[in-house]
Amino acid sequence: MNTIVTGRRLARELGEWRHSGPAYQALADRIRILLMDGRLASGVRLPAERELSIALGLSRTTVAAAYSNLRDEGFLASIRGSGSTLVLAGSNRGEPAHHSGLTLDFTKATAPAYQGTAAAYTAAAAQMPAYLHQDGFDLVGQPALRDAIAQSYRDRGLPTNADEIMVTIGAQHALNLVTRTLYSPGERILVEQPTYPHALDTFASLGARIVAFPVRQQGGWDLAEALLQIRRAAPSMAFLMPDFHNPTGMSMPVHEREYLAAAAQREGTVLVVDETTAHLDIDRGALPPMASFNPNVITLGSLGKIGWGGLRIGWIRANRDIQARLLRNRTASDLGTPLMEQLVATSLLQELPLMVACRSRELRAGRDLLVSLLAEALPQWSVAVPDGGLSLWINTETVSSSALALAARREGLGLVPGPRFGLDGAFERFLRLPFCYSQEQLREGVHIVSRISSQVGEDPIRMPLQAVV
Ligand SMILES: Cc1ncc(COP(=O)(O)O)c(C=O)c1O
Repeated sequence: MNTIVTGRRLARELGEWRHSGPAYQALADRIRILLMDGRLASGVRLPAERELSIALGLSRTTVAAAYSNLRDEGFLASIRGSGSTLVLAGSNRGEPAHHSGLTLDFTKATAPAYQGTAAAYTAAAAQMPAYLHQDGFDLVGQPALRDAIAQSYRDRGLPTNADEIMVTIGAQHALNLVTRTLYSPGERILVEQPTYPHALDTFASLGARIVAFPVRQQGGWDLAEALLQIRRAAPSMAFLMPDFHNPTGMSMPVHEREYLAAAAQREGTVLVVDETTAHLDIDRGALPPMASFNPNVITLGSLGKIGWGGLRIGWIRANRDIQARLLRNRTASDLGTPLMEQLVATSLLQELPLMVACRSRELRAGRDLLVSLLAEALPQWSVAVPDGGLSLWINTETVSSSALALAARREGLGLVPGPRFGLDGAFERFLRLPFCYSQEQLREGVHIVSRISSQVGEDPIRMPLQAVV
């Protein structure tokens, strides 16, 4: 059975979809973007032409022409009597750059492996034989790794025992497990706006009702709105990235951490704090983890950004009661974290300060280069310079980032348009550009973006640049 997207829901997802070309073309272009960046899944059934034409206030002929255009380009399969289904086939699928027809893939803000990773794998391979007599199904994590992770929190001033750590298959797995454990159908989840897209995917997959509060480049976290939402919607959990927030790169000031942690504690909302990006410091300096201010905070961590994404090692720091609940839930989805990767992670964590210093150096060079390339090529764009993280969150002023992403794809460059980070089509005038790529790649990427941004041109619909919520 295919999922059906209603006309009203599609109208919300489409956001500001019109461009200066014919309406049918603009509509087809936007649906294609939603499909390619994951906001609409392959296999989803589109609303009937009549339903969408009513939802959008368009003639049915226009919607029919848009569907026909999608069909001609192989993005829509229509079977008589069962509607029109989106298709993402072959080279259009979200595959690695060398498979997808992309020559440069800026859709991922992730750096190549830390230089010591190969040696850590060699050492782990030598240790593996000693583990082969065990069953290898490890649901909580190897003691040495849990110890090393706990030590990394103690080094940041947060007392932590190894039994407050569960090792997971990356932070995404950790978030999924935590959400399945905390969330019950009908409850709400509070998120920052913008936020990390795959967190939204996780919440959507459980049918969660999402409420949001803004994080703005001028002004930061809107805590008054967060508190209002916590009181009004009583969310069971709130998902936050207080350190080098993805995508803005911003960090929450200490007094705001303290304030939000206390408010959540009082109101009974569990804070799920994603620290996947927390070690990506360029020139900020240490700040206390959110869990310092509230013992019920659940913290997610990962070696994905600081070490290597392909390692697939993450963890959950939580109190023992929560750990017991997580363990009961875990076997529904997986039967443990692979041992070899845990050995690699244990040895990498011994060099955490060096990893942080190396990343910091690379990220500083990438950030400074990208900022200067953009200042030269696209001076009209507002570029806030973050003090850490992996990417710039750019206000493109009048250029639609969805249109830009579509045009970029034709040039072999993968970009994620702003609305992928928001709800209901927000952030159409924002673009995330990662700076964790080589100098040549950054130069080439900016060259393409600046060339196509003039072709995409100014969007005829000039929405006021509301602080997008
Ligand atoms: C904020 C955030 N959380 C989680 C993840 C996923 O982490 P992992 O690769 O450890 O699953 C990412 C990766 O992009 C991220 O940016």
